[in-house]
Amino acid sequence: MQEEIIHKLAEEAIRQFGKMPYVATNGKYDDKVENNIFWWTNGFFPGMMWQMYHATGEEIFRESAEKNEIQLDEALDKFTGLDHDMGFVWLHTAVANYRVTGKEQSKIRGLKAANLLAGRFNLAGEFIQAWNHQPGWSIIDSMMNIPLLYWASEETGNPRFKQIAQAHADTLLKYFVRPDVSVGHIGEFDPETGEFIQLLGGQGYDSHSAWSRGQAWALYGFALSYHHTKEIRFLEAAKKIANYFIANVSQTDYLTLVDFKAPYETPKYDASAGCCAACGMLELTELVLDDEKNLYQSAAEKIIKATTEHWLDLDPTRDGLVQNSSQSYHNPEESHVSIVYGDYFYIEALLRLEEKNLFLW
Ligand code: GLY
Repeated sequence: MQEEIIHKLAEEAIRQFGKMPYVATNGKYDDKVENNIFWWTNGFFPGMMWQMYHATGEEIFRESAEKNEIQLDEALDKFTGLDHDMGFVWLHTAVANYRVTGKEQSKIRGLKAANLLAGRFNLAGEFIQAWNHQPGWSIIDSMMNIPLLYWASEETGNPRFKQIAQAHADTLLKYFVRPDVSVGHIGEFDPETGEFIQLLGGQGYDSHSAWSRGQAWALYGFALSYHHTKEIRFLEAAKKIANYFIANVSQTDYLTLVDFKAPYETPKYDASAGCCAACGMLELTELVLDDEKNLYQSAAEKIIKATTEHWLDLDPTRDGLVQNSSQSYHNPEESHVSIVYGDYFYIEALLRLEEKNLFLW
């Protein structure tokens, strides 16, 4: 990893100590500790800190991540403001800490979060409820949260967490992945009967489109479900979604559009989607047969190279590393900015390429 990146993130670790950055506007991060301790992205900065600690051994990175983990106890204690994103938050904080240091208190935090996530399972429809006000809605992003459940089963020896995760993955595989292999964002179910009703538009262009970060959540998420269960249908889904992603991103010089099926007056990109998809492709290289590896390895390398060449901000006085992430197709505010999960996945991808990645999923 370039020295400039290590230096920049060490500066950020000091500047952001005790804060939970989300979006950097004009080179300055906002802070979710102040305005939303429940926010779904609150694990990404500490997750990046754990990756950097693992790669460099610099104490500031560990101290920063541990500070955030303790701050997040407020969210666990109050819990009613939490959605399904508990995997993103606690896999990257408490579970990461437990994996690195073996701390008992961190394991307990991770298991508490896993129990809360398992409690969102709708038995009739066999899906995990995404948000609190829509009992029948499930979203593709959850594929990246259910590794918290796989971890809880591996840790406790109790299969019930894994059973919930696997049932949820099967439901999304059945209803969200379309015949052309593009993936929907939101699925609506009848919460009483469990009957699937329809796919809804979410952060992409519309209900038929292919929001690129949603494709990335599905790609990496199904690969991770295969990693944890060894159920071959999840690997097959991940490979097909990866192939779809590669076919699309190769048309725009490996810079990822925010939606692969949307109209554009001027192109709108989402760097975070490309970086997340690259991590999923690099995970796939560890799961597929030898003669399949090169497709995913070389596509991931091209995405990260394009991101580095076009979108990296190495100025250590400015917050945010990867520019040009976009929250969604229709939101004009959080567009072409640095978003913390874009930075997290860029760092994970770089470290995967250098074989220095800490597995956090
Ligand atoms: N999980 C919401 C998003 O990807 O923006």
